[in-house]
Amino acid sequence: MALDRPTVPNDLSAFWMPFTANRQFKNAPRMFASAKDMHYKTTDGRDVLDGTAGLWCCNAGHCRPRIVEAIQKQAAELDYAPAFQMGHPRAFELASAVRDIAPEGMEHVFFTNSGSESVETALKIALAYHRAKGEGHRTRLVGREKGYHGVNFGGISVGGITNNKRMFPSLPNVTHLPATHLKENFFSRGQPEHGADLADELERQAAIYGGETIAACIVEPVAGSAGVILPPKGYLERIREICDRHGILLIFDEVITGFGRLGAAFAADRFGVIPDLITCAKGLTSGVIPMGAVLASNDIHDAFMHGPEHVIEFFHGYTYSGSPIASAAGLATLEVYKEESLFERARELEGYWEDAVHSLAHHPHVIDVRNLGLIGAIELEPIAGEPTKRAFSAFLDAYEQGILIRTTGDIIAMSPPLIIEKAHIDQLVETLSGVLKRLQ
Ligand SMILES: Cc1ncc(COP(=O)(O)O)c(C=O)c1O
Repeated sequence: MALDRPTVPNDLSAFWMPFTANRQFKNAPRMFASAKDMHYKTTDGRDVLDGTAGLWCCNAGHCRPRIVEAIQKQAAELDYAPAFQMGHPRAFELASAVRDIAPEGMEHVFFTNSGSESVETALKIALAYHRAKGEGHRTRLVGREKGYHGVNFGGISVGGITNNKRMFPSLPNVTHLPATHLKENFFSRGQPEHGADLADELERQAAIYGGETIAACIVEPVAGSAGVILPPKGYLERIREICDRHGILLIFDEVITGFGRLGAAFAADRFGVIPDLITCAKGLTSGVIPMGAVLASNDIHDAFMHGPEHVIEFFHGYTYSGSPIASAAGLATLEVYKEESLFERARELEGYWEDAVHSLAHHPHVIDVRNLGLIGAIELEPIAGEPTKRAFSAFLDAYEQGILIRTTGDIIAMSPPLIIEKAHIDQLVETLSGVLKRLQ
């Protein structure tokens, strides 16, 4: 039975909204009431084209019947099963389905409920792995400037977001590589040419601290949340080589690149660089139900499988790890991706997308345009003394004009559902063109 609730609640004060300018929002709320395929519908009845797949997650589009039905059926059949010392079939089926599309050798899947939890889990696996191999002295972690690895303490420590560093304490023994955002690469189409040598900082840190003290290096193959930062050609390959030389585990944080964003199941496939651990979330269930995962190589998994059989091998897990409903959503999502060849579709559309995004290069205030897969970014010159304001006003205007974009700093990021049609790309870019022309 439908609940009789007002379309817009009268009281907005109780909900302390995440990563939101709460006072601005509550003065002029923007609310979605429903969604279908490529569109949201606002509570005042307007269609908004989804240029961001929600928050980089709804890769299959919205309210896809197969996913909705799978969730409904599972909720009625087995709503919850204890995640510890008990199992249920869907979690095992989903782990196998993820393994089947994972890069070669990534044979094991540990479920979490978000990208942030996947990152914490991967860092803990890395530390525990070395201990299991008798190398407990490897406690150092290497992240990267501007890296975003979620909001928990491990993630903000290896991440390189200045606001986090200002506000919160970090884990000890964490160092950072430089970001790969170089002026000489501005307006590159696809992977930029310059900057593979920035990877050599990892070699330098191995020399400073002793490579044998470093447990893991974590990078986003393509950074999304910090404003779409691409790996220069040869950069990830070089990071892999240095890790191999020093026995350092390489973690790819694929929370946004996983599940087709770059036209392959994982960025590791797209770039031909296979890490030791992959973190993912978002597209795993097309954003419908919170779920994340860590993919681990055989070598890592098998290092834990020793000792008495009744003893828990990895002292870690969440109440909702691999929950029945999330697992059912994940299975249905992977079926949709496969049946509709959505990863291949993203790859096919990439050229059209690239031309469309770069057509905005000559608009006022635009200082860089970059793209890869179905990701595009337009960087704006910040207003002097008021960083983020120019991009935020573009976001507000775009929403009024019927398109959803995302901004981070003064960067506009777009990452549409993989079901996007060329006509939607045209609409997105034409509308954004008008927005950019009006920008102060
Ligand atoms: C690379 C990366 N890692 C981790 C996260 C955190 O994911 P969540 O918000 O699901 O915790 C994000 C979120 O955008 C991300 O882009």
